[in-house]
Amino acid sequence: MTREPFPQPDAPPVVSDVAGVRAAVRRARLGGRTIGFVPTMGALHRGHLSLIEAARRHGDYTVVSIYVNPTQFGPREDFAQYPRDLEADRRLCREADADLIFAPTDAEMYPPGDETRVRPGRLAETLCGACRPGHFEGVCTVVAKLFHIVQPDVAYFGQKDAQQAVIIKRMIRDLAMPIRLEVCPLVREPDGLAMSSRNARLTPEDRQRAVCLYQALCVGRDALRAGQGPVGFVLAKMRGVIAQAGADVGIDYLSLVDPDTLQEVSEPRGRVMLAGAVRLGGVRLIDNLVFDL
Ligand code: PAJ
Repeated sequence: MTREPFPQPDAPPVVSDVAGVRAAVRRARLGGRTIGFVPTMGALHRGHLSLIEAARRHGDYTVVSIYVNPTQFGPREDFAQYPRDLEADRRLCREADADLIFAPTDAEMYPPGDETRVRPGRLAETLCGACRPGHFEGVCTVVAKLFHIVQPDVAYFGQKDAQQAVIIKRMIRDLAMPIRLEVCPLVREPDGLAMSSRNARLTPEDRQRAVCLYQALCVGRDALRAGQGPVGFVLAKMRGVIAQAGADVGIDYLSLVDPDTLQEVSEPRGRVMLAGAVRLGGVRLIDNLVFDL
């Protein structure tokens, strides 16, 4: 297939209805392409772009969805404040060479009278699930629906949202969805802060302090590697690192878990994940490190 030497100014097309996406995907499939899918909530950054690039590397026809999904936000969460900029997102998708953007309306995703939900199990009860009741039910519901609409061969998710990736992998298996999940590495800012659409909502001072979560995870990893257990002692040391950033930095959780089952680990051995969530000036940030002991 020949490609234009320069990306088209109106590329990629933005489709907002289910029938439009299905028609475009059908055409790509008839042309012999595999379908790669990158679901997002927009306000795209290099973390999202790394997923699009992974899909492009596989040679997939790459569909990016941009939809701030209301059902995964709790009543006191930042749904209204979540950053939205479709034009900027489209420019980035053009640079990353995505083939199609699906940006549905609420009515398209949740038609009047909508009441069916996909409920995850125990994997959704720990970590972020314990702090955000109903969050992963909203995620599973919208992702299942997006999967049915786009019908991809491969879906690309980021290690940034490690629990989400584990839960979606289980949903794909449990519901026998014919989709392969690729989990791509976590992309960081130069100082180590995990890239996130929510970082744009930090004040300049809080942006400086936000790196404390990554620093705490590094301190915890190094302590565990040096055999400075027990785990409770290491987690306390990590809390100390975050406390140094300011008494107003709230900790939702800091946990050492098995990266597959997400269950807490008290006698760490082999592959483990240190995960954390903090709140800073009304902005919630998550991060994790997976490593071997
Ligand atoms: P969103 O937060 O926009 O993230 C979309 C995808 O980008 C997720 O798979 C996430 O893990 C990945 N991502 C975000 N920041 C990243 C980073 N710094 N490095 C690598 N990957 C990163 O996750 C969601 O949206 C939603 O829950 C969604 C799956 C779209 C359902 O609404």
